[in-house]
Amino acid sequence: MTAEYKVNGAVAVITLNNPPVNGLGHTTRSAIVDGMKQALNDDAVKAIVITGAGKAFSGGADIKEFNSPKALAEPTLHTVINVVESSTKPVVAAIHSVCMGGGLELALGCNYRVVSPAAQIALPEVKLGILPGAGGTQRLPRVLGLEMALNMIVSGNPVPSDKLAKTGLFNELVQGDLMEGAMAFADKVADVRPLPKVRDIKVDYPNYEGFLQFSRNTVRAMAGPFPAPLKCVEAVAASVTKKFDDGMKYERELFTELVQTTESKALRHSFFGERAASKVADVPEDTATRPIKSAAVVGAGTMGGGIAMNFANAGIPVKILEMKPEALEKGLATIRKNYENTLKKGKLTQEKFDQRVGLITGTLSYEDIGQADIVVEAVFEEIGVKEQVFKKLDEVMKPGAILASNTSTLDVNKIASFTKRPQDVIGLHFFSPANVMKLLEIVRGEKTGKDVLATSLQLSKKIKKTGVVSGVCDGFIGNRMIEQYSRQAGFLLEEGASPEQVDKAIEKFGFAMGPFRMGDLAGNDIGWAIRKRRYVEKPEVTYSKTADLLCEMGRYGQKTGAGWYDYKPGDRKPYPAQVVNDMIVKHSADLGIERRKISDQEIVERLVYALVNEAAYILEEGIAQRASDVDMVYLTGYGFPLFRGGPMFYADTVGLQNVVMAMEKYAKGRHGQAWKPAPLLAKLAAEGKTFN
Ligand code: 3HC
Ligand code: NAI
Repeated sequence: MTAEYKVNGAVAVITLNNPPVNGLGHTTRSAIVDGMKQALNDDAVKAIVITGAGKAFSGGADIKEFNSPKALAEPTLHTVINVVESSTKPVVAAIHSVCMGGGLELALGCNYRVVSPAAQIALPEVKLGILPGAGGTQRLPRVLGLEMALNMIVSGNPVPSDKLAKTGLFNELVQGDLMEGAMAFADKVADVRPLPKVRDIKVDYPNYEGFLQFSRNTVRAMAGPFPAPLKCVEAVAASVTKKFDDGMKYERELFTELVQTTESKALRHSFFGERAASKVADVPEDTATRPIKSAAVVGAGTMGGGIAMNFANAGIPVKILEMKPEALEKGLATIRKNYENTLKKGKLTQEKFDQRVGLITGTLSYEDIGQADIVVEAVFEEIGVKEQVFKKLDEVMKPGAILASNTSTLDVNKIASFTKRPQDVIGLHFFSPANVMKLLEIVRGEKTGKDVLATSLQLSKKIKKTGVVSGVCDGFIGNRMIEQYSRQAGFLLEEGASPEQVDKAIEKFGFAMGPFRMGDLAGNDIGWAIRKRRYVEKPEVTYSKTADLLCEMGRYGQKTGAGWYDYKPGDRKPYPAQVVNDMIVKHSADLGIERRKISDQEIVERLVYALVNEAAYILEEGIAQRASDVDMVYLTGYGFPLFRGGPMFYADTVGLQNVVMAMEKYAKGRHGQAWKPAPLLAKLAAEGKTFN
């Protein structure tokens, strides 16, 4: 049963029961209508209460049903709400915990709404690239007023019920037992007639035209490539400009349009992708986890400081260990400065500032960190240094402590082998700045314990990261793919493009930053060091030498005031550098390449398909568990445009056959061997299938 029906005295109670969040899927909708029929046919019933079991009133329409025939099967959510709204007996929604989307729309179809404190109330549809499609845009303005409703609908953000208690949305804030309060309320209103209906309220807003125009301008400026926010404004506008039924019709039209858009599909993919990433096939969801009440970080450099802040932000005390007092002091001072900046910007209260700074302490002694539940190593990227540190950690850490490494390129299995407890060792690959970036690659070693993996996934949620599990390989998921992208960027320079053209083309596609601006930000010397290693280890892999020549000119990027671009002191804006462009042209000539005009389409295809092809190998090898995990890595760690859903989702929307066809074309050019389709990609394309 996805909704239960019970009669209690003169009140019938319909309890949605569709775990985990009482999504309004087809069977739940049918059960609500059945419950309503029973209640209306039972003379003993004078009033009806609708509530939700478990941890939500309702999380809204079942997103999994979208774009499937089930979403349109009767009774639709519209029908359910019509049945409720046209009831001849009063219907009271008893709301608690979470009341979102279609859940709130259902509640708005009831005659009355009572609510517990601290329930999250939202119409979050815009975050899925759609708009409230079951009357939310027409009914919410009728109870909250145009301005407040528009803010909620366009932002999609939840508002605590306490803050809405005095609005027309709620009839009563129930401080004690919700069901007791709801039953008493239902008894009280059982005989009140006529039954109040939200649809009968008029939205009163003098000079609404001015307000709506202002809203359109503001929303257009912030919506970026997403069509939904502006459509939300148009739908809400209809609540004041049109009659209720016409407004509903208009809302429906806009909803139907939006639900088909790639942007909406991409957002829904990302919603489920984020949740799927926390699941590992051979690690059951009920795997016992280890408690993490205290943490330690080894190394107070760029990464160590940011990693420590993550723990403190989550209320976990953390000790940072360094080799020398100066390095420790410098690291702690940087952390403090970071928090001070946030405080100055008003994004942190003084109380939270004191609390967080107070949770971070420094030490020079391993003995001081031995009792931590987890230690994250963030020392120099040299295997000898890692060996030294892990041997020491093995000696001092209490049994059961998790020993994590933030290495970005080294072999986690090898690091684990430096200890006598490889089952406790895992890679936790944070991205810089570690206190800001959402992505956390969780690198599962051959011997990593399942409980250690489950604990790390749980921890990633606690510190508000998107944890994605990766197997052990050079570069893990993200950096292994980006290497192929960077190689193509280099080849494009040799063949005729300029850094500016490449960056502009991929930024127009939606990337936050093109490869050359990114190189200048991160430091071109990092890639140089990696390539030097590769020239020895994998001489068969070819690279453009332009980036090496750039580094030989001392142009490491912003930190040296010059890289692919010129920079002015104190200004991060890139200016095209003649000397670099001359170097690139000369390099082409030295290679005997006749430079040609390269289209933006070619740039985008070569950069993005290089990612896709490498990811197909990664999937085949089982380094990533699923295509959506790759997408989450790119959406949360590499600035891939959200509205395109990640590289794999994007390739699916292009059509894998088209991707392969483009690759065949590029295979005829220079460095054509890079364009051999990975077997998985070739197979899926041949079968007309998709990655996701
Ligand atoms: N439909 C289907 N499944 C949903 C769902 C929904 N509306 N909301 C959540 N779920 C699923 C999640 O996928 C997840 O499934 P899993 O366990 O298999 O991974 C499970 O419920 C738990 O979700 P969370 O991990 O997010 O649980 P939390 O407790 O952290 O958060 C929540 C609960 C606040 C409800 C959050 O899940 C959320 O924000 N959900 C989306 C709400 C939403 O966007 N509703 C609008 C839907 S569209 C709509 O109603 C259209 C209508 O206007 C016509
Ligand atoms: P960093 O050079 O800024 O900091 C390293 C710190 O470790 C220094 O403060 C140093 O004094 C300390 N240290 C070195 N040996 C030590 C030891 N034996 N005991 C205690 N402290 C010691 O380096 P960064 O950039 O923070 O990198 C650290 C690790 O994180 C590396 O493994 C790196 O590959 C990885 N990483 C770096 C990223 C970045 O963008 N910088 C991104 C993701 C991972």
